[in-house]
Amino acid sequence: MYKIREASGEDLSSIFSLINKQAHNGKILKRSRKEIKKVLRSFFVAEQDGVIVACGAIEIYNKKLAEIRSLVVTSTHQRKGIARALIKRFIQVAKKKRVYEVLTITDRDDVFVSHGFSQQLQGQKALFLRP
Ligand SMILES: CC(C)(COP(=O)(O)OP(=O)(O)OC[C@H]1O[C@@H](n2cnc3c(N)ncnc32)[C@H](O)[C@@H]1OP(=O)(O)O)[C@@H](O)C(=O)NCCC(=O)NCCS
Repeated sequence: MYKIREASGEDLSSIFSLINKQAHNGKILKRSRKEIKKVLRSFFVAEQDGVIVACGAIEIYNKKLAEIRSLVVTSTHQRKGIARALIKRFIQVAKKKRVYEVLTITDRDDVFVSHGFSQQLQGQKALFLRP
C-alpha cells in the first residue's frame, strides 16, 4: 500500500527524475533540480515500500491562486488511485490555507473533474497566452 506524504530534501532526486521522464514525453513541463528545490515545500509524494512512485505539487502563489503542477505517477503504479489521492490532499491544503482558487493546466481533465474542477467557474473562463 502506498502512503501520501509531504516531500523532504531526500526526495529531490526521485521527484526530479519522475518529472523529467514525463517532460521528455511532452506531458508536463521540465523542471530543474534548483527549481524543484526552491518549491519543495509544495510537493507531496506517494511512497510504496520505500520507493517514491508519484509526486505532485500545490504551489500557492498568493491568497487568490494556487496551481497544481508536476503531477506524475510512475507507469507501473498508474490507475490505482494515486493521482486521485494526491489531488485530494492538494485540495485539503488549499482549503486549510484558505486559497480562493486552484488552477491546473492539463490534457488529463478527466483526472480532475471528479474533484470538482471545471473549465468554467461561475461563468468565468481561464484564458491562456504564451508570450
Ligand atoms: C495522469 C496521471 C497523473 C493519472 O495518475 P493515476 O494515478 O493513474 O490516476 P488515478 O488512478 O488516480 O485515476 C484518476 C482518474 O483518472 C481515471 N484514469 C486513470 N487512468 C486512466 C486512463 N489511462 N484512461 C482513462 N481514465 C483513466 C481513473 O478512472 C480516475 O477517475 P476518478 O478519479 O473519477 O475515479 C498519470 O497517468 C500520469 O502520471 N501520467 C503522465 C503525466 C501526466 O500526464 N500528467 C498530467 C497530469 S497534470
